[in-house]
Amino acid sequence: MPDPRPTPLPENLDRRSVPAHVGVVMDGNGRWATRRGLPRTEGHGAGEQALVDTAYGALAAGVRALTVYAFSTENWRRPVEEVRYLMNFNRGLLERRQHELHAEGVRITFSGRRDWRVPRGVLSRMDEAASLTKDNTVMTLNIAFNYGGRAEIVDAVKRLVDDGLSARQVDEKAIRQRLYHPELPDPDLVVRTSGEFRTSNFLLWEMAYSELVFTDVLWPDFRREDLYAAIVEYQQRERRFGGVDA
Ligand code: IPE
Ligand code: IPE
Ligand code: MG
Repeated sequence: MPDPRPTPLPENLDRRSVPAHVGVVMDGNGRWATRRGLPRTEGHGAGEQALVDTAYGALAAGVRALTVYAFSTENWRRPVEEVRYLMNFNRGLLERRQHELHAEGVRITFSGRRDWRVPRGVLSRMDEAASLTKDNTVMTLNIAFNYGGRAEIVDAVKRLVDDGLSARQVDEKAIRQRLYHPELPDPDLVVRTSGEFRTSNFLLWEMAYSELVFTDVLWPDFRREDLYAAIVEYQQRERRFGGVDA
């Protein structure tokens, strides 16, 4: 399906310095629902439209990779009913959207742990979406699912040990190569919705020099215009990477 809502990019968005990789902490679903007198799960459901519209916006802007935080290693602490809903919801989302994203040339990948708590049916849907879209090159939609930044670093260190590296051989490159998606550049921009000012264990290693943009918009209300506004804000920042101004 082509973009159902083609929208011109804002004039103040510089097409020559679009962030190559954008991370999004999709937060505020529960509050969105509660404010409407709905169960929290309705907020997760409403987040689907936000995700799809944001993906179309990222495609239109020329973003090469979009990593979205869908379920954290800490989200297992939620009530069992909500966790079950989120597992089924994410499976359903892939079933409903993988062909549409595939048609747009999106490669779907996942970051996170495939542990015993993730139902087998969810894992097989994830594998199916990844394999269907593996050769696509327009944009990578990387879904952080059962993802934790600390878990990712622990997993990388385990692989270092398994690979038999000596202390002398351990450096940033050796660790980076063992992260979940070493082929993706570090995110230039990370957006968090819902007025929370924290990372909540998202992309700890990769975010070292990301520009952070926070917005009060609750995730289910987020649309590509909000992504464009975040990109424009990013373009006004001066990135120094520890150096001094030129
Ligand atoms: C984000 O929305 C979705 C997930 C964490 C899965 P929340 O469910 O955290 O919504 P709030 O923060 O409680 O409003
Ligand atoms: C972060 O949101 C995780 C996702 C968006 C999937 P949370 O709602 O879980 O974060 P905290 O608990 O407010 O830090
Ligand atoms: Mg939250």
